Amino acid sequence: MSNSTWNQFSSAPQASTPGMPNVVWAIGGGKGGIGKSFISSSLAICLTRMGKPVTLVDLDLGSANLHTCLGIKIPNQTLSDFVSGRVTDLNQIAANTEIAGLKFISGFNDALNIADMNRNAKGRLITALRGLSTPYVILDLGAGTSETTLDFFLAADQKIVAVTPEPTSIENAYRFMKSSFYRKLRQAESELGIQSLIEAAMDSRNQHGIRSPADLLRFIAQSNPEAGMRLAQKISDFQIQVLLNQVRTRQDIDLGHSMKSVCKKYFGIEANYLGYIDHDNAVWQSLRKRRPLVVEYPYSSIVGQFMQTTKNLLNPTALRAVI
Ligand SMILES: Nc1ncnc2c1ncn2[C@@H]1O[C@H](COP(=O)(O)OP(=O)(O)OP(=O)(O)O)[C@@H](O)[C@H]1O
Ligand SMILES: [Mg+2]
Repeated sequence: MSNSTWNQFSSAPQASTPGMPNVVWAIGGGKGGIGKSFISSSLAICLTRMGKPVTLVDLDLGSANLHTCLGIKIPNQTLSDFVSGRVTDLNQIAANTEIAGLKFISGFNDALNIADMNRNAKGRLITALRGLSTPYVILDLGAGTSETTLDFFLAADQKIVAVTPEPTSIENAYRFMKSSFYRKLRQAESELGIQSLIEAAMDSRNQHGIRSPADLLRFIAQSNPEAGMRLAQKISDFQIQVLLNQVRTRQDIDLGHSMKSVCKKYFGIEANYLGYIDHDNAVWQSLRKRRPLVVEYPYSSIVGQFMQTTKNLLNPTALRAVI
């Protein structure tokens, strides 16, 4: 089915409301090759099918390849132009795509990479992402747990962790969630002026039996109840959406539930089980054809799973019902 035929089925994308902040979703997961870019592009296209314009941003700085998932060439201007100051308005480098309602910002593919992004550049980029003209923005994050990657993840309204049912991916997903939680604590501690309290706790963590983020929060609340309360409030918006990808069996599907309880029990981290996506040969087939899966196989069950996941993300009440 061609794009134009498909577009007859979609609601017309609504223009963004001027002055309204946009909603940012980020897809991370720690491990490489688990489907973050595939998921980001699929969720973005699903949103456009629901009449919601999106800008998809390749933040896999250094090895950007999201354009391949969309089946398009790298646009002339990339994030490098914005970070280096050659372009001041990020909207200028958001390229239109063949998909109605979808814009694309390409990542770095030259000498500039994630290590070159200092704090100012990062802050400027986060502010600019919030100022993009589409009502939704999706960030495809790179692998790993670098501070920059974690900062983009934490800046998002929906923090999605992709995981496949392999032990290495699960291990990396936990590491990613823990690292982002500690990063969030670091951000909160400087705002609340409680660095010394946290540092003292971390220095003598064995003595205090601190092994997880939950232990640390408990320790702070006991040592300084007021600081503990303010900290708990500051980090209350830290909620992670776990999305299982490449699912093959019933056991794989159940993994989402056990990850949710492990997060709560051992780390004190709130995680929702957002949903799961099947392993499907249609993924590499569409990639090889350079046609996004959602466009190429719109009526497949895997696209149905992406549409459901998108609806869950749009509707927090439904999201809670999934769990
Ligand atoms: N549900 C799925 N079924 C089958 N194959 C999949 C599925 N999801 C992803 N893949 C395959 O996994 C590979 C990696 O996907 P992708 O590039 O999206 O991962 P990534 O996490 O973005 O990787 P990187 O960390 O390198 O950016 C691709 O070849 C893709 O075809
Ligand atoms: Mg990728």
